[in-house]
Amino acid sequence: MRIEIELKQEIDNSYQIYIEPLKKLHIDSKVAIITNTTVKKLHIDYLLQRLEAVEVKVIELEDGERYKNIQSILSILDNLFENHFNRSSKIIAFGGGVVGDMSGFAAAIFQRGIEFIQIPTTLLSQVDASVGGKTGINSKYGKNLIGAFHQPKAVYIDSHFLQTLPRREFNAGVAEMIKMAVTFDAEFFNWLESVDLTDKKSVQDAVASSVRIKASVVAKDEKEMGIRAALNYGHTFGHVVEREGNFEKFLHGEAVSIGIIMANRLSVALGKLTHKEESRIRTLLERYSLPTLYHIDDIEKFYEAFFLDKKSGDNSITFILASNIGSVEIVKDIEKSTVIDALKSYNALGAK
Ligand code: NAD
Ligand code: GLY
Repeated sequence: MRIEIELKQEIDNSYQIYIEPLKKLHIDSKVAIITNTTVKKLHIDYLLQRLEAVEVKVIELEDGERYKNIQSILSILDNLFENHFNRSSKIIAFGGGVVGDMSGFAAAIFQRGIEFIQIPTTLLSQVDASVGGKTGINSKYGKNLIGAFHQPKAVYIDSHFLQTLPRREFNAGVAEMIKMAVTFDAEFFNWLESVDLTDKKSVQDAVASSVRIKASVVAKDEKEMGIRAALNYGHTFGHVVEREGNFEKFLHGEAVSIGIIMANRLSVALGKLTHKEESRIRTLLERYSLPTLYHIDDIEKFYEAFFLDKKSGDNSITFILASNIGSVEIVKDIEKSTVIDALKSYNALGAK
């Protein structure tokens, strides 16, 4: 006997992304604001002054990528249960990408899923992490290996929060902007080369351009069955760098910067990117003091670590390669020896 469950359905996950000073938010249910110690201290009053809800509970996490783990998720869930949250309650993710990814994941699994709102407070989370519904945590096997797609109900991007962001964190966000420009928008890249991102207006314009790119890619491929993987440019390499540094040596955006340069070495070896374009990308990253050099101690081990990446199949690794500035290719089945040679040529760039 065979019984079919018919589950064909159209789901409308559309939402608005507001890029403007935060206006009054009215929420007709209980709300848990999930944040961390740093953001709470700096900005919780600003948010509370603009929030009206049936009841508000602030859940405070430790600050740091090393807390992006299952223990933090369990503590969020305990907190929600102890405070009698239910399926109509909502979560506000209030912080950078770490808080955003964890809050979204908690929202995805609490009582099989509740609604959440993103209020990102770092540049990186404003231009990338808060948009698109990727939520999750790290495991000892690698970054973001546990998670769920769970779209927010809305994203509120307010440049007010960036005033307190340390320069190094700001620059890490610029790495993700450069990623969007190299992969999808040559004009945006040219514009980024022509500005300094020191004034509010140019930062705001850059945020808007990045979010526009991200939103259009996610709209085409919400669950990363195809083109969305291109947003992982620099990440296949960067995630290994991040893990080798125990998630402490480099910020995520810094590891992505290094990963972009590694990926570009491979693009150049395959004739997809010219030396001139490779050098323009490196110059732009370095303008924001982003690291571009890194010494790979054990290239074979580095290569093997790619297989822990979600984008890798059993026997093949997916590489996201810039093919000229402004376009991108998703390439499988590159010979191992070609990748190893590219990594050797990367090491030869000179990091000690
Ligand atoms: P983060 O969340 O660790 O924030 C960086 C630091 O800035 C933290 O110490 C934080 O407390 C502090 N901070 C936050 N807002 C601040 C403010 N306004 N003023 C002063 N300090 C502030 O790091 P991040 O760079 O925002 O995000 C990185 C994470 O995002 C990684 O875990 C990465 O995997 C994830 N990510 C997710 C996606 C996605 O699509 N879901 C995309 C890109 C990155
Ligand atoms: N940051 C990659 C993505 O959202 O797909």
